[in-house]
Amino acid sequence: MNHKRIIIAGGSGFIGRALARELYLRHYEVVILTRTPRTRTSDIREVEWDGRNPGNWERELDGAHAIINLTGKNIDCPHNAANLRAITDSRVNSVRALAAACACVATPPRVWVQASAVGFYGDTSDRACDEHAPAGSNALASICRQWEDALTEATLPRTRKITLRIGMVLGRGGGAFPVLSELTRWYLGGAVGEGRQYISWIHLSDLVRMFVLCVERENFSATANAVTPNPVTNAEFMRELRGALKRPWSPPAPRFVVKLGARLLGTEPSLALISQRCVPGIFLELEFPWRYPKLRPALENICVTP
Ligand SMILES: NC(=O)c1ccc[n+]([C@@H]2O[C@H](COP(=O)([O-])OP(=O)(O)OC[C@H]3O[C@@H](n4cnc5c(N)ncnc54)[C@H](OP(=O)(O)O)[C@@H]3O)[C@@H](O)[C@H]2O)c1
Repeated sequence: MNHKRIIIAGGSGFIGRALARELYLRHYEVVILTRTPRTRTSDIREVEWDGRNPGNWERELDGAHAIINLTGKNIDCPHNAANLRAITDSRVNSVRALAAACACVATPPRVWVQASAVGFYGDTSDRACDEHAPAGSNALASICRQWEDALTEATLPRTRKITLRIGMVLGRGGGAFPVLSELTRWYLGGAVGEGRQYISWIHLSDLVRMFVLCVERENFSATANAVTPNPVTNAEFMRELRGALKRPWSPPAPRFVVKLGARLLGTEPSLALISQRCVPGIFLELEFPWRYPKLRPALENICVTP
């Protein structure tokens, strides 16, 4: 154990589980803040919080090396008014609660790495967006802006801040991949809509290494796109996924089918139809060594990993 404590708020989910394991293997003491701690014996401690109010969990922050905040209601649901409110509140409230706790403890964490999303840019069409691009104007862009603003507004003079605008994370244990691969196995993996919308993606293992870099690189503060340098169109993405899963052809899914399918699956059709062409300007400057910069090897790795 290197005795540095890292708090992962919302660390019980898809990204958090992989990140917690990696940090544990790197000999950090890992503490997950969760609404439902499990009692099982584990080298990774789980501490209860509700994501909005002060409580005993705040003690964990005193003297911690880092906070990583991944908290947020999953966006994979219909984007009606109630769900959009819950998506926003779960994110903004968690940032505010953590910031208030940091302000109270004697020795606040030295670094805070905050999740955001490439949804910040709205629908980018085929315009490539690095971190200088302005915020978009749709509902998810507005949520990302409020989410990021909550951290910007927090006065934390002893804590460096990094915000990662994360793209579609590809891994087996969550996110979009399990659904897309299941549909593709059933020969339903055709291009979605016109297929020209861009997907900015990243392999889970590269994203985890970006979080580690943010924690460990002294003096690094930024808002950075956490994606590969190679966004692809939806048609290309689905073609590569079919190739990786040995499904040579599937009929394309026109918009009305996507809308119907999304309703049946209890999700939001715009998530599949929006175009997000994002460039990782900051990580390119840092010469970040992506293990999976190209889509096909990334998909093949995920398809064969047990
Ligand atoms: N996965 C992606 O492709 C992707 C892409 C871009 C951005 N992101 C962002 O990265 C973060 C982590 O993503 P993920 O895929 O790991 O998400 P996830 O699997 O849904 O995990 C998020 C965690 O947040 C906590 N949470 C959910 N609703 C909450 C609420 N109302 N109040 C307090 N906590 C709540 C949950 O922890 P407990 O139930 O244990 O409390 C959950 O484990 C999210 O903020 C997400 O928006 C993810």
